[in-house]
Amino acid sequence: MANLIVLGAQWGDEGKGKIVDLFSERFDMVVRYQGGHNAGHTVYIGETKFVLKLIPSGILRPGVKAVIGNGVVIDPGALMTEIESLEKAGIDVRSQLVISNRAHVIFPFHRMVEKVSESREDRVAIGTTARGIGPCYEDKIGRRGIRMADLVSPQGFEHLYRMLAEDKMTLATAFKVSEVIDFNAILAQYRQFTEKLRPLVRDTSSYVNAAIKAGQNVLFEGAQGTMLDIDHGTYPFVTSSNASAGGACTGAGVAPTRINGIIGVSKAYITRVGAGPFPSEIPGEAGDRIRKAGNEFGSVTGRPRRCGWFDVPLLRYTADINGFDSMIITKLDVLDDLEEIPVCVGYEVDGKAVTDMPATNEEVARIVPIYEVLPGWKTPTKGITSLDQIPTKAMDYLRFLESKTGVEVGCVSNGPERNETIIVPGSKLATLLG
Ligand code: GDP
Ligand code: IMO
Ligand code: MG
Repeated sequence: MANLIVLGAQWGDEGKGKIVDLFSERFDMVVRYQGGHNAGHTVYIGETKFVLKLIPSGILRPGVKAVIGNGVVIDPGALMTEIESLEKAGIDVRSQLVISNRAHVIFPFHRMVEKVSESREDRVAIGTTARGIGPCYEDKIGRRGIRMADLVSPQGFEHLYRMLAEDKMTLATAFKVSEVIDFNAILAQYRQFTEKLRPLVRDTSSYVNAAIKAGQNVLFEGAQGTMLDIDHGTYPFVTSSNASAGGACTGAGVAPTRINGIIGVSKAYITRVGAGPFPSEIPGEAGDRIRKAGNEFGSVTGRPRRCGWFDVPLLRYTADINGFDSMIITKLDVLDDLEEIPVCVGYEVDGKAVTDMPATNEEVARIVPIYEVLPGWKTPTKGITSLDQIPTKAMDYLRFLESKTGVEVGCVSNGPERNETIIVPGSKLATLLG
C-alpha cells in the first residue's frame, strides 16, 4: 500500500468523490488539500446520495480519518451544515474529522467582494460558484486572512476580524454596495460556530506526517481539476487554488518524497461549468444528448455543465503537470448509445499544429480541434464487473485513449455506485492499491 493523490485531470466533476469513497476503504486517512465548498463530490451508497463539499469523501467509511488540510478555505457555516447532515445520516463525524488550524476562514463579506468582482461591467465574469472562495484566497495571499487558529483563539480573533471587516466596509462603500452587512451579527455567529468546531481544530500537518511515519496509508483528495488550477489552468477562468499534485504537498504540509503515486480522474468525455474556452466542446443537440445521458448538472450550483469530447492534448498536458502514474476513466456508460465517438487528438491554431497548451484564453479559444472518430459499441456497459466483459469496441476506445495520452488506464467506472468500478488487473494502480 502507499500514499496516493487522486485528483481531477480535466475541468472538475470527473467523478473524484465516487473514486475516493471507493478507494478509502483501503486507507487509514483521507486528506482534502485545497478548494472549499465550491467542490461537490457525489457518492452513492445504495439508494443514498451524499454530496460532500468540504469534508473528504473518506468520512463515509467508518474509522477512516478525514482531514481538512491547511490549503482548504473554510466557511464555518457551510461546514457546520455538512457536519450536521452527515451526523443525521448516522456518521460519527466528530470521531473521524480533523481540521487544520492553518486553513483560512471564509466570511459572508467574501461573497460580497466576489459579487462585486463578478458583476463589473468592464470585466468578463468567471462564472464562479459564488461561495467567496477567490476573495478568501486573496486575503490569504495578501497576508491579512484569518485562519482557523485565529478563529478558535479566545483573545486574538475579534481584533483580526475587525481589521478585516474594516477593509471590506471601505470596499463596500467604494463600490456602492447596497447590501447591508451586519459585521457585529457575523462576529456573534462565528463565535457560535467556534464553540462547536474548536475540538476538531489542530495542526494537521503533524497529524498526517505522524500517521505516515507510523506506516499508515494516506489518500489525498483533490477538488476541482487541473484545468481549473490557478497556475496551470485556463487563467483567469480558473479557481483560486492549486488543484494539481503540487497543491497536495503545500495544502497538506506533506513532503513530495512521502507521495508514492498520483492518479488522474478523467471522464470518458469532458465537461466544464462556468465560463472560459473549451476546445472540444460539443455544440447544439449532440452536446445536450451527452448532458442528458450523463446527468451533467453541477452538484453545487445545479448549472448545466458544458460537454465535450475527450481531449488528448489536454490530458497529456495535465499528465505532465501531475506526473500521473495511472488514470481512471469514469462515465464510460454515458457513451454506450453512441454510433460514433470523436476524440480530439490534436490542436491547430491558424493552420499550425500546437503542441504546448497556449497560455492565453485568446489562443485557447482559437484552437481548432483535430478529431479522430471511433466507432461506438452500442451495448450497455452498466452492470459489467470485469474487464473481459467490456465490449470490444469500448475496450478499443480505452486502449486508444491510453496509447494517445501515454497514461495507463488503471480503472474504469461504468456507473455511479461503488460496485460499478473495474480496477484493471496488473495495472500500476492495482499495484499501488495493494
Ligand atoms: P467530482 O466533483 O469529481 O466528485 O464529481 P461530481 O460528483 O461533481 O460529478 C460526477 C457525477 O457523475 C456524479 O453525479 C456521480 O454520481 C456520477 N458518476 C461518477 N462516476 C460515474 C460513472 O462511471 N457513470 C455514471 N453514469 N455516473 C457516474
Ligand atoms: P469539483 O471538486 C467544476 C469552477 C466554477 C468556475 C471556476 C471558479 O466538484 O470538481 P470558484 O467558485 O472556484 O471561484 O469558481 O471554477 N469550479 C468548478 N467546476 N467542479 C468543481 O469542483 C468546481 N469548483 C469550481 O464553475 O468556473
Ligand atoms: Mg463536482
